[in-house]
Amino acid sequence: LSLNDQELKRKAKAHDEIAHDVKQAAVLGAGIMGGGIAYQSAVKGTPILMKDIREEAIQLGLNEASKLLGNRVEKGRLTPAKMAEALNAIRPTLSYGDFANVDIVVEAVVENPKVKQAVLAEVEGQVKDDAILASNTSTISINLLAKALKRPENFVGMHFFNPVHMMPLVEVIRGEKSSEVAVATTVAYAKKMGKNPIVVNDCPGFLVNRVLFPYFGGFAKLVSAGVDFVRIDKVMEKFGWPMGPAYLMDVVGIDTGHHGRDVMAEGFPDRMKDERRSAVDALYEANRLGQKNGKGFYAYETDKRGKPKKVADASVLDVLKPIVFEQREVTDEDIINWMMVPLCLETVRCLEDGIVETAAEADMGLVYGIGFPPFRGGALRYIDSIGVAEFVALADQYADLGPLYHPTAKLREMAKNGQRFFN
Ligand SMILES: NC(=O)c1ccc[n+]([C@@H]2O[C@H](COP(=O)([O-])OP(=O)(O)OC[C@H]3O[C@@H](n4cnc5c(N)ncnc54)[C@H](O)[C@@H]3O)[C@@H](O)[C@H]2O)c1
Repeated sequence: LSLNDQELKRKAKAHDEIAHDVKQAAVLGAGIMGGGIAYQSAVKGTPILMKDIREEAIQLGLNEASKLLGNRVEKGRLTPAKMAEALNAIRPTLSYGDFANVDIVVEAVVENPKVKQAVLAEVEGQVKDDAILASNTSTISINLLAKALKRPENFVGMHFFNPVHMMPLVEVIRGEKSSEVAVATTVAYAKKMGKNPIVVNDCPGFLVNRVLFPYFGGFAKLVSAGVDFVRIDKVMEKFGWPMGPAYLMDVVGIDTGHHGRDVMAEGFPDRMKDERRSAVDALYEANRLGQKNGKGFYAYETDKRGKPKKVADASVLDVLKPIVFEQREVTDEDIINWMMVPLCLETVRCLEDGIVETAAEADMGLVYGIGFPPFRGGALRYIDSIGVAEFVALADQYADLGPLYHPTAKLREMAKNGQRFFN
């Protein structure tokens, strides 16, 4: 991990030479992500304008920032004077009045390509010619969004993870037309915000979500095979994940998961499209959206500290009944393999497709972005630890589960030649 982290830092530093200094930033959208981005920028010393179209959204964004800053003061990690300074560094606005001076705009409005294209084209007309525009989209192709712009060379993806102040990763997505200066400036700004940026190339889901959805695909297959999701969560938590897949889906939001799955299925229909209804479809249709509306795979109560607490809820079993197509007996080891093989193989495909440049970056993206069990090093290190040939043989045992479980020709070649991802 330490060696991989050094490689990340070295690669990020290589961008310093051409990066422009970001003295003033702006964020569009004051929602969960926009509010978090404004807080993180301000607390790390870059003033930021926070624009929304709704007054109440701005108030919520500011409240969230002041709550986070208050927590830091309580823990003695920030003086009240510094808190006031950080709050003053977030300038809320409903108009583009002061946008002529911004060096970078992070777009964090709703996940809808038409809305994003309209907002990006609008803001492009308000900023100086060399200002960088960066979208925080989770899944939408950067090349598609770039089509709405007159200066696509100034446009990149800047994908933060939720909650922004906690998650160390930022994926910087290089579109076909993004300039090296735009990439470098965004990398430098992410570093200034205290994050670990990784530059990836464009595709649906980029690196992290592209790899995460096949993992959820394995989960969907298990639930449809009659395996109890609470057991799956326990097995995967014991394996080292901070939370099991059902709980994670509840935290992400069943609607977000549902929508993201559709985008991924359209991008990679050969392996990510599934005609059968899945557990997430069933929950979505039953309006069980997860933590956000109190019911998903689990039910959520509020604990004494005002935080959501997960409790078992038997009523979900009726919702899931129609999507259980068979009753398979599986061992705990099967559960791990049904989940981990698709995740690992998709990471291999991302490396082979050049979405990510090195094995170290791919692995660290998963550790920093989705909490891949750190002591296992990442998906590619995990394959190495099993042995590439042994991993291919393992995947072949699950071949009947579909193309997500089929090793690439290149991986078979590596197995034959005794190659590894890390030497
Ligand atoms: N929530 C997550 O876990 C997460 C993680 C990574 C990335 N993202 C991405 O971040 C983006 C924002 O997601 P969110 O969860 O913060 O959404 P959200 O619904 O909480 O916030 C979106 C905000 O955008 C505002 N908005 C809509 N149109 C606008 C416009 N024209 N100008 C300015 N503001 C406008 C809305 O009023 C709202 O306050 C999405 O693209 C999403 O995919 C979300």
